[in-house]
Amino acid sequence: MSSSNRSGFYNPGSNRIRKERTERATQRKQPQYLAGRDKALRTPQPHLLDPTVSNDAAMHNRDFKYCPDRKKKYQTVAKIGQGTFGEVFKARATETGRFVALKKIIMDSENRSSGFPMTSIREIKILNALKDVPCENIVELIEICRTRFDPRDGKRPEIHLVFEFCDHDLAGLLQNKKIVFSLGEKKQLAYQLFNGLYALHANKILHRDLKSANILITKKGVLKLADFGLARPFSVPKDNKENRYTNRVVTLWYRPPELLLGARNYGPEIDMWGAGCVMAELWTRTPIMQGNNEQDQLSKIQRLCGGITPEVWSDVVKLNAYRGMLQGKPITKEKRKLRGLVGRFLKDEKGLEILEQLLTLDPEKRLDCEAVLDHEFFWSNPMPCSLEGMLSKLHKSMFDYTESMPKNHQQSAQQHSAANRPAPNFTGLVDRVF
Ligand SMILES: Nc1ncnc2c1ncn2[C@@H]1O[C@H](COP(=O)(O)OP(=O)(O)OP(=O)(O)O)[C@@H](O)[C@H]1O
Ligand SMILES: [Mg+2]
Repeated sequence: MSSSNRSGFYNPGSNRIRKERTERATQRKQPQYLAGRDKALRTPQPHLLDPTVSNDAAMHNRDFKYCPDRKKKYQTVAKIGQGTFGEVFKARATETGRFVALKKIIMDSENRSSGFPMTSIREIKILNALKDVPCENIVELIEICRTRFDPRDGKRPEIHLVFEFCDHDLAGLLQNKKIVFSLGEKKQLAYQLFNGLYALHANKILHRDLKSANILITKKGVLKLADFGLARPFSVPKDNKENRYTNRVVTLWYRPPELLLGARNYGPEIDMWGAGCVMAELWTRTPIMQGNNEQDQLSKIQRLCGGITPEVWSDVVKLNAYRGMLQGKPITKEKRKLRGLVGRFLKDEKGLEILEQLLTLDPEKRLDCEAVLDHEFFWSNPMPCSLEGMLSKLHKSMFDYTESMPKNHQQSAQQHSAANRPAPNFTGLVDRVF
């Protein structure tokens, strides 16, 4: 039988062609990297062939080189944080004694198909990429580990992100009124905040959830930006191609007016607003604009920063929600009171100048990190100074989670393993909308 029919077309069913194809395929050299894998796949795996062992169980019992067993490698010391997407524990590495923070990823157990949360995948990807950025003001993701399936309690395996341990978070420190920072120490904290943010923005990453609870401080006084669950890479919009990112980001009290008004084409300016709120908090000790909902947040912003009008922010008219949420409301006539209100706490003129230019309604007029870091505030006396001496006097860690607990719970949170007791539902200042 001929390999082509009368019209000359190929007949793929022909024996000769099939034989040729097989010969060609067997002659083809297998790439080196596949050779071993293929062999392994062909080798019968006894546990996979055992019909009494489910594939799930076999998988749970395997060792994964890059995902060690949490229970073997780390011992839990205390629960230190409760976020929207996970609990955080202080733990000690069994072999080295090094302290780490374990962030447990909470899977949606009701709905197994939703699986690994998107925010955690994003967080891991970004933190891995940031490992190459030589900036000490970004928290280090050491590795990812897991727990095994426990047939006794039927508990599903868990995934934990392993971070370098930091002794405090800024919210926890600020809640404790006994801790008093000098102007030089506040400058040091603010400088490190903008330095970490500079590294992010220079690498085209937006944090999108700056707040004092997401800012960690080591006992040596090194500040670290943490919680990259909402972070994302950004691009500078070219020609007429606008970015269309979600505006359901940033914890409400730190959310800039453009996001509240529906902006989707945004960039680093959204983080600069949040960083301005955090910087002010170093003096006020409490978040400066605590709205109950988006509308209320906009009112609070206007009370402090003045009415949102096209005179102070010409492009505001282009935002979707501008008409619906603001126009015609008397609040838009508000005068800017930031200098007077924050000035009661922050008596330094140069510091106030930075805040004025960070908490600017028009995002285009906001300072960027480079301009803040170069500002005279950080280069005039008193110069930024180390916090190590002051923090070394503290005898316990301070976190938003532990400090916002009633006093009688605090000690047990610091001492006992949280694995042995149910987690109390103290979520601190969390009010995040996605
Ligand atoms: N590396 C660390 N060292 C010490 N404490 C940490 C560390 N990472 C996180 N924490 C503590 O755990 C808390 C929650 O962690 P994180 O913000 O990463 O979780 P989250 O679930 O995303 O939180 P949220 O939804 O509240 O923003 C932090 O506010 C901080 O107090
Ligand atoms: Mg957080």
